Amino acid sequence: MIVAIDGPAGSGKGTVTKEIAKRMGLINLDTGATYRCVALASIRNKIGLEEEDKIVSMIDDLKIEFKYDENDFIRVFLNDEEVTNEIRSFEVNKIVSPISSIIPVRLKMVDLQRKMAEGKDVIMEGRDIGTYVFPNADVKIYLDADIEERAKRRFKENKEKGLDVTFEKVLENIKKRDENDKKKKIGALKVAEDAVIVDSTKLTISEMADEVEKIILEKTGEK
Ligand code: DC
Repeated sequence: MIVAIDGPAGSGKGTVTKEIAKRMGLINLDTGATYRCVALASIRNKIGLEEEDKIVSMIDDLKIEFKYDENDFIRVFLNDEEVTNEIRSFEVNKIVSPISSIIPVRLKMVDLQRKMAEGKDVIMEGRDIGTYVFPNADVKIYLDADIEERAKRRFKENKEKGLDVTFEKVLENIKKRDENDKKKKIGALKVAEDAVIVDSTKLTISEMADEVEKIILEKTGEK
């Protein structure tokens, strides 16, 4: 079974995906983490965004893996080193959307994402899961929220992690990412024709998860 959860940054995809994976015994695949690994590797190798050829030739040397700890929390590994936290830095946030727009990067990551899901019951979060990675997914949900609310959530998350980034900077980063993610040539952020839209602006985490669980059960015919 494939459940696709798409939507913009801060819409609650990550949170809801983790919760539903736990409730329904699905494997949680965070596709954004694959692009984040490429962004981190570019930073570490001091490759600039404009050096597309170098980024593309670098990806063949990257081994990206997800491992699950005892709480089923995804741990992300890049060439055998755990980078679960590093890939969430503000530096990575700044370049990940343009990195994910590079077509050969997308093709390679989509290939990897499809392989990761092979033969498994998964809940996959991203931007293009229902439209491009798995257009035949059993359930497609598009999660959205007002931009101010999404920026507030990211700002709070950063604060909790001890990151010192102003609210204005977070808002600006989210706006830029939204714009860039929507205009990609392949895998742009958009609502799949057969997706159910959930607006999480005014929902608590558990209300959001209840709503998503209800949609999945309705679509898969379980009561
Ligand atoms: O979900 P996230 O914030 O971790 O995603 C990071 C970036 O990766 C996001 O700005 C767009 C890109 N992305 C994508 O293009 N396609 C996906 N399926 C997932 C993420």
